[in-house]
Amino acid sequence: MCGIVGYVGPREAAGILVEGLRRLEYRGYDSAGIAVVNGNGLEIRKAAGKLSSLEQQLANAMPHGTIGIGHTRWATHGAPTTPNAHPHTDQNERIAVIHNGIIENAGSIRKMLEQRGHSFHSDTDTEVLVHLVGEFYQGSLEEAVATALREVDGAYGLAFISEDEPDVIVAARKGSPLLVGVGEGEYFIASDASPLLEHTRSVVYLDDGEMAILTRDGYRIRNLETDRIEKPVNQIEWDLAAVERGGYAHFMLKEIFEQPESLWNTLRGHLLEDEGTSRVTGLNLSDEQIKQLDRIVITACGTSWHSALIGEYMLEELARIPVEVEYASEFRYRNPVVDERTLVIGISQSGETADTLAAIREAKLRGARTIGLVNVVGSTIAREVDGGIYLHAGPEVGVASTKAFTSQVAALALVALRFARLRNLSILQGRDLIKHLQELPAHIQTILDKAPEIEALAERFVRAPNALFLGRGVNFPAALEGALKLKEISYIHAEGYPAAEMKHGPIALIDEMMPVVFLAPNDAVYQKVLSNMEEVRARGGKVIAIVNECDAEVERLANACMAIPVTHELLSPILTVIPLQLFAYYVAVRRGCNVDQPRNLAKSVTVE
Ligand code: AGP
Repeated sequence: MCGIVGYVGPREAAGILVEGLRRLEYRGYDSAGIAVVNGNGLEIRKAAGKLSSLEQQLANAMPHGTIGIGHTRWATHGAPTTPNAHPHTDQNERIAVIHNGIIENAGSIRKMLEQRGHSFHSDTDTEVLVHLVGEFYQGSLEEAVATALREVDGAYGLAFISEDEPDVIVAARKGSPLLVGVGEGEYFIASDASPLLEHTRSVVYLDDGEMAILTRDGYRIRNLETDRIEKPVNQIEWDLAAVERGGYAHFMLKEIFEQPESLWNTLRGHLLEDEGTSRVTGLNLSDEQIKQLDRIVITACGTSWHSALIGEYMLEELARIPVEVEYASEFRYRNPVVDERTLVIGISQSGETADTLAAIREAKLRGARTIGLVNVVGSTIAREVDGGIYLHAGPEVGVASTKAFTSQVAALALVALRFARLRNLSILQGRDLIKHLQELPAHIQTILDKAPEIEALAERFVRAPNALFLGRGVNFPAALEGALKLKEISYIHAEGYPAAEMKHGPIALIDEMMPVVFLAPNDAVYQKVLSNMEEVRARGGKVIAIVNECDAEVERLANACMAIPVTHELLSPILTVIPLQLFAYYVAVRRGCNVDQPRNLAKSVTVE
């Protein structure tokens, strides 16, 4: 999604803004720009394409000034062209704005302004907004922005500057995250912490409906009506290095290899071995409330929806609570049966996915208790749910989610364990699950050590036009996740299916070009999956088997076999998914794809 960064203080702003935009590149974008108040007025520089295009423009003449705003745009209204790039200015070109989100009533406002003689240079809703602010400007940028925002519908993260007020940045948030960076005599605004970390770790998270007024002497938070709100200053835990690639070729590879550590960071402090249960006080659910729950809905998007499906198996198997998994984009517009005895779990790495946020809000409106399994601390979903568990997986920069997925499954295991031990899971069964959870980091490392083997396997399928991923039981969602990984970074069409479903259609696709990946840990349905492998092999398909032991029978059936460590059946997707992540990564790299920023994708989909 779009990236926002702003600066006001004693230092030259332009360099700070460009470096900040570089830290925001991972969000996915297609144009970039900055605006600086340079003493003679506003200086705007912007360019379609990657940040390097803007840097070429700036190479010979960097704007001079100590206040400015910068933006990376992921096109929603209007093509990714230079005229549509942000910042945009008002009719008199004295006020500049950068924006993340969508102004839903921009069309009607544009018509009204055109009738008043306004002319526009872009197709964007953002330019309409800054013209509206200019229309209301009567000497106070803050008041003009507040007045204009009372007129608009939609979602926004905004920052304004004006050549008439060269010491003020006015920022506002509704639906798109914004935070204030509190430096030493200098202040920042940004859409997430990454551009701030080299300057300050002290941040203030804005909530929906709030504005921040930044000057050289300090900052003030208000909403559209009042003139001051007190907010806590938070400390960011992540080091900048944590966001850098750390020597790996891509962020995605770094994050795949971080999983022994990230998974342990999710579990750390939550496992109570003696009682055979988990500590999940962050859920803000008493044991009594947990016992009274009569159903659970888990809602999410994409990879997070896949971990939700695994959560369904865990919670129903262990805690015997009925669970439904819903795409957030569907749940938010349905008329779901939800009440105070329903627990709604929202799963989101970013904590900003618009559909998941809307689904959570809808559930709260209907009286359900809501909890979030979220990675980004202080994100909107994390702050709007009634309780939750932070994944503590560290920043996930690659657009394709990897470590967040395994941490989500681990967090779901913690929830299922707590709920189950309050119902009908014995202390010994609980301790057994804890033992398997504690072994997972080492098991993941064992698989990661086989990366060269997986890279060689990927080499054989770089040209495959299609791929199938098949699993049964709790590994069916893992098959879906493996398919999503391959399709979203290598652009090979891939589908995941329950292995038994193959006979109901997909088997028609099988030919010698088709790799069929089977997830077949030694569980209750293992023999049935072997039969499915036989069916594929008999039709000339290429079988790739992820199993616990490449024994003679598997070797007979599979063209390639990878053994992974044994773990608790319900935890096996955390292990079966690792080879699939690496397989997708190596295929995509060999196909020359942009692994960290795949075409058309964004790391956090904060618009519908
Ligand atoms: C996963 O690889 C994708 N990038 C995407 O499906 C992602 O999982 C989805 O957009 C949900 O994001 P969230 O977890 O941040 O809510």
